[in-house]
Amino acid sequence: MRALTYHGAHSVKVDTVPDPVIEDSDDIILRVTATAICGSDLHLYRGKIPTVEHGDIFGHEFMGIVEETGSAVTAVQPGDRVVIPFVIACGSCFFCQMDLFAACEKTNTGRGAILNKKAIPSGAALFGFSHMYGGIPGGQAEYVRVPKANTGPFKVPGTLSDEKVLFLSDILPTAFQAVTNTGIGNGSSIAIYGAGPVGLLSAACARMLGAEQIFMVDHHPYRLAYAQKTYGVIPINFDEDADPADTIVRQTKGMRGVDGVVDAVGFEAKGSTTETVLATLKLEGSSGKALRQCIAAVRRGGVVSVPGVYSGFIHGFLFGDAFDKGLTFRMGQTHVQRYLPELLEHIEMGRLSPEVIISHRLSLEQAAEGYRMFDKKEDDCRKVILTPDDNRIALPESDDTAAVLAT
Ligand SMILES: NC(=O)c1ccc[n+]([C@@H]2O[C@H](COP(=O)([O-])OP(=O)(O)OC[C@H]3O[C@@H](n4cnc5c(N)ncnc54)[C@H](O)[C@@H]3O)[C@@H](O)[C@H]2O)c1
Ligand SMILES: [Zn+2]
Ligand SMILES: [Zn+2]
Repeated sequence: MRALTYHGAHSVKVDTVPDPVIEDSDDIILRVTATAICGSDLHLYRGKIPTVEHGDIFGHEFMGIVEETGSAVTAVQPGDRVVIPFVIACGSCFFCQMDLFAACEKTNTGRGAILNKKAIPSGAALFGFSHMYGGIPGGQAEYVRVPKANTGPFKVPGTLSDEKVLFLSDILPTAFQAVTNTGIGNGSSIAIYGAGPVGLLSAACARMLGAEQIFMVDHHPYRLAYAQKTYGVIPINFDEDADPADTIVRQTKGMRGVDGVVDAVGFEAKGSTTETVLATLKLEGSSGKALRQCIAAVRRGGVVSVPGVYSGFIHGFLFGDAFDKGLTFRMGQTHVQRYLPELLEHIEMGRLSPEVIISHRLSLEQAAEGYRMFDKKEDDCRKVILTPDDNRIALPESDDTAAVLAT
């Protein structure tokens, strides 16, 4: 089959690789009909995540048709159309029973990313996300093996196009978890750092939940303009405004700061040359630029919610400010499985239309081009979806107006 594989920093290509086979009795083989490139894939693409090996297949946002099932699979059958959560969870361990699927302690044979780990088990395996997270081949491919198929695959109705439901695999539940973790509701104020796909869908969720003021910080004018037009955010360009948190605080009631803040940027945050250099030299695990801004923008007693990926240590972390303001921090990989029924209902009722953020539709064969464009923010790229040519199935047309680049 054809699959997108890694060959060193900034070097990915579509190769012919062996077809996946059932390895465990609760596996399925999925024929992929649509897959997407995530901001998390960019960390891998840029060579920033350790334990990624040449030939590894990327991709953790995908959906398709069940092709084959292992003998112990009861939840789905061949022919079912399903979206696959990027988190691989057993469904029955200590954490899965609490709906903390990303903490599943039964699926990851890798060591996970905790530096000071002691004896605790690793969190869940993730598709296509390094050998720390289990080295499970990803879904930017024609076919993919899906382990723990009685817990992950989520059946979706045939009335909804792939584009409408594909983001249930990751970025929609990620945005939803990030925003609900802030505790905001009707009339609240929220600031979102990062206007990438996760930030944009966070704005969509905040709008749905009744937020009154939504600030959005980034430095790509086209992303900010899109968020302003689509979700009514108040845009702030950090290339033009050296201290967005100050600008945000001054526009909130009583200059108290926002009720909640979402860091949808993560460890590659731009804006601090020192930290960029230190992180590149591995003297610092992550850039603390966005996180410091988040801590500064939020009100006392507020919540800093962090879907953006961080690794290791940050020196410039103002823990004293967080203490003085009495802040709550919520973060981590998304417990995808937990949110799917609720989010599908929001999509069916038209309260969420995650597909509108798609800017580029390419074939799987053009995946390397998709990575380059998404990484370099070329052609006003917001979100790339890929379709394996031979697996394409006829589905209702999406009504959005984004450019169709597929040949
Ligand atoms: N927690 C999870 O389960 C989960 C799931 C999906 C994605 N993620 C993470 O969420 C983050 C965002 O993903 P994405 O797909 O939107 O990626 P993206 O790379 O497209 O978007 C990140 C945006 O942040 C902006 N940015 C950079 N520095 C900034 C700063 N200092 N202040 C404000 N904005 C800044 C960039 O210009 C870019 O537009 C990534 O770290 C990704 O790994 C986490
Ligand atoms: Zn992702
Ligand atoms: Zn589990």
